[in-house]
Amino acid sequence: MIKRIAFNTDESAAEWYNKRFSDFGVFETTKKYNSLMLEWLEVKEKTEKKLLDVGCGGGFFLKQAEKFLKCFGVDFSLEALIQAKKNCNADLILASASSLPFKDRSFDFVSCLGSLEHFIEMEKALNEMQRVLKNKGKANFYVPNSNFILFKLNKATYFQPNERLASLNEWRKLLEKFFVVEKDFKHTHNSLGRLIPKNLTYSFSFICSKK
Ligand SMILES: C[S@@+](CC[C@H](N)C(=O)[O-])C[C@H]1O[C@@H](n2cnc3c(N)ncnc32)[C@H](O)[C@@H]1O
Repeated sequence: MIKRIAFNTDESAAEWYNKRFSDFGVFETTKKYNSLMLEWLEVKEKTEKKLLDVGCGGGFFLKQAEKFLKCFGVDFSLEALIQAKKNCNADLILASASSLPFKDRSFDFVSCLGSLEHFIEMEKALNEMQRVLKNKGKANFYVPNSNFILFKLNKATYFQPNERLASLNEWRKLLEKFFVVEKDFKHTHNSLGRLIPKNLTYSFSFICSKK
């Protein structure tokens, strides 16, 4: 049976996340993963530059990024932000990715890690993220691969709202409507990830610049 959790509005999807996070806690990501996300953005030293993490969840990436950058996180789940507050010192803002409450060209870096595929208005959110990125800024989108074998075998088990999977080329095509795709990386956070070819990997990161 296909169990796809689909919502039509941000309000109803945010409610799902609020309940999920208060019942079971936020999704955690490892220090290794978060360091790699920064490395792919070529963040190597402490600067005054600003980063916005969209769909920041429990703030684990922000915790790592704020060692180097002035950080801001946006999420539409209040419960995510309450938990993120315990994990990081970033400025946290309750908002939808579809309508980011920042001026044009405010950020040197934008990250959207494991979140884009859940946004109901994916293209609207991408347009917002390109709007708030500075001209020489960089964005990192971490997204799931529809050709990953376990997704293929279990393609009925979507367990988060509105999750969409796509191939390397499909993601690239979507991102190219809004950004210049500079580089793509395959999931390499464990030894299995390093062995699997890029087109079959679990997920990709796309490093993008402004058009
Ligand atoms: C899978 S979690 C990823 C969290 C975090 N980026 C990470 O890597 O652990 C997806 C996050 O996106 C948030 N989210 C989903 N749709 C959103 C939207 N339209 N606007 C803002 N946040 C959204 C959810 O509340 C959730 O915290």
